[in-house]
This record gives sequence, structure tokens and C-alpha cells, in this order.
Amino acid sequence: MVNLDLSNVNCVLDLNKYSEYIKKFEEWCKKEKESPKGMIGWLNYCSRLDTAELDRIETVAKDIRSKFDTLVVVGIGGSYIGARSMIEAVKGLYSKEPIELIYLGNTLSAKYTKQILSYLEKKKFAVLVISKSGKTLETTIAFRLLKQLLKNKLGEHFVNAVYIVTDEHNGNLLDEAKYCGYETFYIPSDIGGRYSVITPVGLLPMAVAGVNIREFVQGAINAEKILSSSDLTKNQSYQYAVMRNILHKDGKAIELFVTYEPQVRRMCEWLKQLFGESEGKNKKGIFPASAVFSTDLHSLGQFIQDGNQCLFETVLNTTERDDEFVVPKEGKDFEELNHMAGKPVSEINQIIFKSVLKAHASQGKVPNIVFNIDKLDEYHLGYLIYFFMKACAFSAFIQGVYPFDQPGVEVYKENAHALLKNEE
Ligand code: PA5
Repeated sequence: MVNLDLSNVNCVLDLNKYSEYIKKFEEWCKKEKESPKGMIGWLNYCSRLDTAELDRIETVAKDIRSKFDTLVVVGIGGSYIGARSMIEAVKGLYSKEPIELIYLGNTLSAKYTKQILSYLEKKKFAVLVISKSGKTLETTIAFRLLKQLLKNKLGEHFVNAVYIVTDEHNGNLLDEAKYCGYETFYIPSDIGGRYSVITPVGLLPMAVAGVNIREFVQGAINAEKILSSSDLTKNQSYQYAVMRNILHKDGKAIELFVTYEPQVRRMCEWLKQLFGESEGKNKKGIFPASAVFSTDLHSLGQFIQDGNQCLFETVLNTTERDDEFVVPKEGKDFEELNHMAGKPVSEINQIIFKSVLKAHASQGKVPNIVFNIDKLDEYHLGYLIYFFMKACAFSAFIQGVYPFDQPGVEVYKENAHALLKNEE
């Protein structure tokens, strides 16, 4: 179960005002769905998902695992961060089983690229390129470099080591995939990058990494059902969206996503991307930031407790108990830990969470929105992904901005293309 706890924000939901917004949002969603350019296909993608598509994803994933020891996932933004965040959340940070995943195409750092390419020299690797537009510079350059390496190793058979996920109708990558005969999966045209983790964009790399995508999809389908209520007193994704906007109006410019699990750090990156690109336009939006506790309690913790009160926290609190590691007892109690000997580390992490909540919310007056998450597994993650996408779209609607474009990102891209042309 995932439960939203709003008891530490010290604000009340304005039911009348925001119930009106819900009505308008749902009407708007219908229109967006009917429009040929609408981008709201994600809203019921999972419940419409054909099992044949899931079967094909799993079959190809198995095939990749049987033929290669490494998969390089090439993509950026919404074409990368969702899959990576889910894989890390489920498999942990150091898993190389059943296959090693490496990420490229999200940077043009020559140093990083060199490290990856030389590491791959000795590997039997495949490349999975994910790009909806098929023309993102960072992604396409990385793909070229990887193709070169593959061609050197495999000659014309390199095509058997390339997998593509791209738009179903348009784009350079689609043209190349058809021309070369790469194994290809499609992103529906009515789903944009940061809402696409529930499509093959996320599902294929997850399946290759050994994540149970059926459970993940089931979590999203259940969220779709549970969060379909138009009643603000019942629908927690609407409650969350409303509360962050109330806090914003109250002067909180920053939302700090917090986790106590290092392997959820990347999911916070996904949340930053989702909210940042969806809301940050027309000089509006709540700036999304993130922190991992306890680590950042010893850096940002000081600011949060005592500094400028410009932020609220949204805590992803995983309550799952794990008894594997307990504090050991020692004959000589130098560390003064014997009074807690036998306590599981997971229980102490929960005590830290409660202590921080008291310190930040009650004593420091920093509003805390808390998600209590029973288990960090595929089902709960699928639920959360859908929860946040729906909340984000509604939150952007409340702010009066279109959630599904990112015109600001285009500015640097156009500048880069112009500079690169001038230098030719
Ligand atoms: O959320 C988005 O739409 C963006 O972050 C894109 O995913 C990102 O810019 C990559 O685009 P593409 O998939 O076209 O390479």
C-alpha cells in the first residue's frame, strides 16, 4: 500500500475551490484525449496494454540476456531516467545480474564516453537506443560511437546487437530502424518522454534487467483505478497536487523530494524531471530538488532546519522492515551501542525518519508531505509512477501551464545546432 500523510503540513485542503479545478481538469483531459495532437495517452495506457506486447518485450529481453553480457541503454531525459530509476530501486545500485546495464547518451563528456567505450572493448554488448524524436544530439552521437565499436567487432552483423525504442510514426531513428532492420519497439505518439516509463521506453530496459514488468504494470493499472475518483476527499493524487500548490501559494518555492534509501535517489531524479519540465514554464512552477537522508542531513540538514524557509519536503518513506542486519553486541562497548544491540538497521532508519519529521516539521516549521510506502517492489513502484504522473498533470493544470511540452529545453538545442552549423 502507498499512503499519503498530510498531517505534517499545517495547512488544510480547500475542498470547494479545488473540487472545481478537478472538474475542469477532467473535462480538459477528455478534450486532450480527443485532440489529434493530445499527449494524454499515458492516462490509460497500462489498462489498454496488450499482453502480446508484454510477451514480446519479455521475449526480446530474454534474448538480449542470453546473447550479451552487457546492455548499453542510450537515451536522455524522459527516454532514460525513468527506466534507470526503476531498475535501481528494484535491483539496488550494484547489481550486475542477470546482465550489466550501462548508460550513455545523457552526456557529451569526452572523459565519461572514453571510460565507457574502453570498458566495452572487452564486453559482449548490445545497444538499446531510446529516443522519441530520434534526433537528440547527446543520444545520436553516443549511438554513432557505439555503432562504430560494434561494426569493428561484428562487421555487418552489428545490426543484431542494436535495439530501438522510438515514435511509432515519425523520426530519423524510425527511418534508420526500418532501413537496417533493427528490432524496434514503439512509443505511442500521444505519450511524451517523461510520461513514457510505462511504455517500452521503461519496460524493455526494466525487463532486460530482470525487473518484473507485469507486476509494475499491475501497480500502474491499480493506480489508474484507485485514482480515477473525482472526489478530492478520496483521490490522494489530487490531494497531493492541491497541497503542493497551497504550499507554493504560501511562499514555498522549492519542493525537496527526500528518500532514506540510496537506491531511490534516481527516482527522485525522475520526479525532478517530471515536475521540472511539466511545470517550469511561463515563469511559473515549483522548483524540484532532492536529497538522500541520512547523507544529506549532514549537509542540507542544517539549511532545512534553520535556514531560509523557502521549501517544503515530500518524503518517500519506505516502511518495509528488514531484519537481516542488526546492531551487533560487543564485549567492550566503545561505540556505546550495546543498549540498541539486536535492533535491525531498518528499524533505526525509521527512528531517524521520525526524529527528522519532528525536527523539521514540528520544531523547524518546514511542511512535510509524507508518502508511506509498504514495500519497494515493482507493484508499489508502478503505483507510484502513475500516482505522480497524474498528480503532476493536475498540478500543472492548477498553475495554468501545459504539462506535456518543454519549450524551454529547445532553446539550448537550437543554439547548439546553430553553433555546430557555423563551425562546419
Ligand atoms: O520528457 C521529455 O519529453 C524529454 O525529457 C525527452 O524525453 C528528452 O528530451 C529526450 O527526447 P527524445 O526521446 O526525443 O530523445
